Amino acid sequence: MAVHAQTAEKHFHPTQDAPSTSQLLAQGAVAAGLSATLAPFSANGSWEQRLAANPYLMAPMAGVSDQAYRLMARAGGAACAVSEMVSVAGIHYANEKTWQLVDPNPAEPDLIVQLFGSDPEQFYEAAKRVIDRYESRGWLQKLVAIDINMACPVPKVVRKGEGSALLDDPARAADIVRSVREGSDYSLPVTAKIRIGRKQHDYVAPAFAKALERAGVSSVAVHGRFANQFYTGTSDANAIAQVVSAVSIPVIASGDALSAAQAVQLKESTGAAAVFCARGTYGNPWIFADARSLGAGCTPAPHTTAQRLAAFALHVQLLSATGAHIARARSLAGWYLKGMPEAASWRERAMHCVGVSDYLHLIAQVAQANALDPASVMVGEALQLAQETSVTPGAEKHSHHA
Ligand SMILES: Cc1cc2nc3c(=O)[nH]c(=O)nc-3n(C[C@H](O)[C@H](O)[C@H](O)COP(=O)(O)O)c2cc1C
Repeated sequence: MAVHAQTAEKHFHPTQDAPSTSQLLAQGAVAAGLSATLAPFSANGSWEQRLAANPYLMAPMAGVSDQAYRLMARAGGAACAVSEMVSVAGIHYANEKTWQLVDPNPAEPDLIVQLFGSDPEQFYEAAKRVIDRYESRGWLQKLVAIDINMACPVPKVVRKGEGSALLDDPARAADIVRSVREGSDYSLPVTAKIRIGRKQHDYVAPAFAKALERAGVSSVAVHGRFANQFYTGTSDANAIAQVVSAVSIPVIASGDALSAAQAVQLKESTGAAAVFCARGTYGNPWIFADARSLGAGCTPAPHTTAQRLAAFALHVQLLSATGAHIARARSLAGWYLKGMPEAASWRERAMHCVGVSDYLHLIAQVAQANALDPASVMVGEALQLAQETSVTPGAEKHSHHA
């Protein structure tokens, strides 16, 4: 089998004069049916009022919600977005890779940073360091809140007493909240994300959320599954509603908001102040604005193939501009091309793409195969790159699409 000359390349390498993320959004957002101007998180009133101003938020997703992903979500109307989870121990030994998770993109209006760990002292130090970093770089206005992960079910995290393991230890979890509040000089909201319990029938969420409330969290996000369910089964909206009744702080509901309609339904059925959209954002950055429209009684227009391809092209370019790992573009291909004619075959071809121009070329070909002018899905340098690239040798086998 033919191997592409650049197979060894693992990361996109932005060139010196490559367009910035702001330029890319300015050029590509409108064709994708997205907003080129990213609204900041509401600064007015109490935390509850700030959440109510636009209740649909981009959830934290390790391995997914990087800078490019968050920019797409904000362009799609997300009120705010949460970083991938960042280890407090990692921040202690911070290297550039760790800071890459914590830092906002220059085009990102603001951000919630999520920390995970188990030692209150490390949380105290991590909160201080995050704030110092934001302050020294003039970004302090961009730090909306620090969120504490008490939900992650991954065994290597739980084994160390981190993530959802904290659900077994409300006293430690409360200590962690107090440490983060102290470490951030009580200068910004501290929030937490939990599951409804560690294992089925061990339903701890209402009492646990109350303990966090007493320790001073501004809101608690609840994913309506037990940790041992991972992402299987269904998320229990009733269980989330019981947390809403148990505490006076706002609750953010999470779980199975897989479409705009489900996001609105989750908010309404739980009485939560806000909703996190997670897997529902895969290939669907419009979910946030659509949910708001639906919530206001309007039916949003469906997103056309041209818009979906334009969104894919913009997202790939944002990945490239932020130096992200190539594997992230491969997942995007699966998500954005889903449901299009010959999707499986196009996805297979995407597996051979190694650089941004390969992806843009592929998108141009998908556009043509769907009777669309590539110029309607990408503009400027993107179009030029798409036109001048050759397809990878492995992909040429499938050239019946062109
Ligand atoms: C790939 C992936 C990564 C995730 N990473 C995190 C994380 O870092 N922190 C966190 O609190 N939740 C994380 N979650 C959980 C989501 O934020 C969300 O609560 C969960 O997916 C349920 O929502 P959904 O059913 O709408 O996807 C992750 C979920 C997925 C699918």
